[in-house]
Amino acid sequence: MTIKMAKHKVLVYGATGYTGKLICLRLKELNINFAIAGRDKAKVAELSSQLNVPNFVFATSDFGGWQEALSGCACLINAAGPFALTAENAMHACLQNKIHYLDISAEIPTYQLAAALDQQAKEAGIMIISGAGLFVAYDALVVHTAKRVKCAQQLFVAFSHYGGFSQGSIKSAKYIEELGLLIRENGELQQITDANPKAFDFGEGPQECFPTSLGGTILSYKSTAIPNIREYFQVQLSALTTNPTDIKNLPEGPTAEERAAGRNKLAVEVIGSSGDSAYSIADLPSGYTLTPLSVVAVTCRIVNGDFKAGYQTSGSAYGENIISDIPNSRIIDC
Ligand SMILES: NC(=O)c1ccc[n+]([C@@H]2O[C@H](COP(=O)([O-])OP(=O)(O)OC[C@H]3O[C@@H](n4cnc5c(N)ncnc54)[C@H](OP(=O)(O)O)[C@@H]3O)[C@@H](O)[C@H]2O)c1
Repeated sequence: MTIKMAKHKVLVYGATGYTGKLICLRLKELNINFAIAGRDKAKVAELSSQLNVPNFVFATSDFGGWQEALSGCACLINAAGPFALTAENAMHACLQNKIHYLDISAEIPTYQLAAALDQQAKEAGIMIISGAGLFVAYDALVVHTAKRVKCAQQLFVAFSHYGGFSQGSIKSAKYIEELGLLIRENGELQQITDANPKAFDFGEGPQECFPTSLGGTILSYKSTAIPNIREYFQVQLSALTTNPTDIKNLPEGPTAEERAAGRNKLAVEVIGSSGDSAYSIADLPSGYTLTPLSVVAVTCRIVNGDFKAGYQTSGSAYGENIISDIPNSRIIDC
């Protein structure tokens, strides 16, 4: 007797990567029908048999491969980074096949690419969200805090990451660092050469954070239109971009124990037009636990028919309320 597998609703491309596998486990936990894809036949076959899900093997430039794998799907999760090398083809495949697109990119050019495809996405009736990892909670917190002041004018966001970094994140950090320091000033994106560190309290006293382009200048500008945005990170990005030859000697990513031993934190300060201000923090699972929970939270909305066509961020599509779909996550007003 042949056992018929239900047609997959979600395709995870780059599923064999460190974060891709965690995304698959979360989909499995929620009983969402999914298939996996990637370019490496042996790795894809091995994961497919471990998870007992269908698999597809093709390079991102193979549009026939995309067509076959995306057929009948509601949504693609692109977990194959660096996204500078994968997002453009994957987004175009989704446009051609009229399938919603999500990725977990932390690379600003990918967000700009998604923004540039807004009209095409609207015409195809699909939603494109680039940055549906950390940025789901980030954007929800910004949308929430912006509502606490009158006519939000200035946004400061700081990110405190817990849990070390995967090889893939270190590879992608170079694409973030090489852009230099981006801020939003009077509505315009600007590159600046220097900015001072700023102290943020994530709930345990002030901590100095370093000016860093995280992507809120694109994503949270889309969701809130706050005209002045500056972002900070608790470590200097240059400390992350290890000599590429050393990356292979690092662990694939943090172990489950390491992931469970701490929390990610975000702090947001918003200043309104009359000088009133609001400060809120988000208390979240650590980095590589948070990302699968976040992207799958958005996936569930899509699978249930809840989406807005065009280029979106999680905040512009779902508002602050999406954070309640991410387990073990909360916003605290200070
Ligand atoms: N913002 C967030 O919340 C967040 C969190 C976690 C990760 N990320 C990002 O997600 C990405 C993946 O991270 P990771 O830790 O999973 O990295 P990883 O373990 O290195 O996995 C990368 C995956 O992408 C695939 N891939 C890479 N380049 C490809 C290409 N040109 N064509 C097709 N497939 C390609 C790899 O396939 P092969 O095995 O065939 O090379 C692998 O499956 C990184 O960019 C990272 O920055 C973001």
